[in-house]
Amino acid sequence: MTDEIIVVGAGGHAKVCIEILHEMGETVAYCVGDANASDQCVGVPVLKGDENLVDLHARGYRRVFVAIGSNRLRNRLAAYATELGFTLTNAVHPKAIISQTVKFGEGVAVMAGAVINAESVIDSLAIVNTGATIDHDCDIGRAVHIAPQCALAGNVTIGAFSILGVGAKVIPEKTIGEQVTVGAGGVVINDISASQTVVGVPARRLEK
Ligand SMILES: CC(C)(COP(=O)(O)OP(=O)(O)OC[C@H]1O[C@@H](n2cnc3c(N)ncnc32)[C@H](O)[C@@H]1OP(=O)(O)O)[C@@H](O)C(=O)NCCC(=O)NCCS
Repeated sequence: MTDEIIVVGAGGHAKVCIEILHEMGETVAYCVGDANASDQCVGVPVLKGDENLVDLHARGYRRVFVAIGSNRLRNRLAAYATELGFTLTNAVHPKAIISQTVKFGEGVAVMAGAVINAESVIDSLAIVNTGATIDHDCDIGRAVHIAPQCALAGNVTIGAFSILGVGAKVIPEKTIGEQVTVGAGGVVINDISASQTVVGVPARRLEK
């Protein structure tokens, strides 16, 4: 058995997550990428094909971090890895500022410069990206992506699988449903129901 970590994913998001894991003092043994992946990802060798996880488990690896930007795919590959017997580790940059009273699920990524304040809850597989701020008592759902430089005021709820694009903002006590996309730079000033895309200031539904 080994404590070394397998990173699932070998693209740009994986690069950032591997460097966070290194900053935490962890060792990343391999990435698992798709057939088109490069041979290495920030110096970590890449095995091509998800089926490699079966062999890696047999070789004694038990810890996985799923570093895939797509919320749905991240969730699917995390489910596959846990079915195989892996545990999901968190990647939290040492230079993120996180209240002691924040609760984390599993497989969470928190990038450099993020701030998460008192009694917020960050569910499994969420990403709190570079420089994003999440104020007190927020509830961030499963496999949500809060992109770089987003700002959430206090008591904001974000439903599972939603993505807030770069620089989006949410005023206090608003609820965003599941599978919502908030466009880059959007400012949410009303509750947003599930499964829609909103853009602009104030954020309004994007009709296609
Ligand atoms: C909102 C978004 C998902 C829409 O993407 P899309 O469905 O491909 O939409 P399109 O680019 O075809 O644009 C459709 C219309 O919406 C407008 N629009 C798109 N994104 C917008 C935004 N963020 N704010 C305001 N208007 C926007 C476009 O100008 C276009 O308007 P038009 O029809 O009048 O020309 C995308 O533009 C976006 O903001 N994604 C966020 C990505 C991100 O930050 N990811 C984080 C990575 S770490």
